[in-house]
Amino acid sequence: MRASVLDVTPDLDGAPEAVTPVYVVTEVPEPEAAAVDLELAAAGEKVFKKCKSCHQVGERAKNKSGPILNGVVNHAAGSVDGFKYSKAMKAVAEGGLIWTEYELAAFLTKPKAYLKGTKMSFGGLRKEADQIAVIEYLKTFSR
Ligand code: HEC
Repeated sequence: MRASVLDVTPDLDGAPEAVTPVYVVTEVPEPEAAAVDLELAAAGEKVFKKCKSCHQVGERAKNKSGPILNGVVNHAAGSVDGFKYSKAMKAVAEGGLIWTEYELAAFLTKPKAYLKGTKMSFGGLRKEADQIAVIEYLKTFSR
């Protein structure tokens, strides 16, 4: 896979010490190429309980305090219709951030450290196994 490095400097209010995030945008695989590990996805469904208070997935999903997460894996960040994102999320979305599994794992580890100014009020998933599992679960929902 080819990879290109984009240097994005989001215009974040009152965050002078914010580090400049470097997003590695890899080629997005074709949907049929992304095989889903169902056992791992089932484990991820349990982890997703931590997200459910704010996010919905599935056919009848609606935006709540967080956007719907159908098809989010390998999709452009900040692109759910009708959801009012934070300035910080809009800035990285304009910078071309794609939610690759790598970027999602980094975001979910500690959302506010990854994206200063995000309105996702969630402490994060400390265990890498939980991050990987919940991402696998999210892969089972397309937009
Ligand atoms: C307290 C509410 C809350 C919880 C809990 C929460 N989120 Fe979020 N999430 C948000 C909000 C609000 C946003 C929009 C952030 C912004 O605009 O800065 C968001 C954004 C996201 C995005 C980016 C979506 C996009 O369209 O670009 C992903 C992916 C995500 N959350 C995944 C998760 C996962 C996975 C969990 C559970 C492990 C979780 N969130 C837990 C509120 C929450």
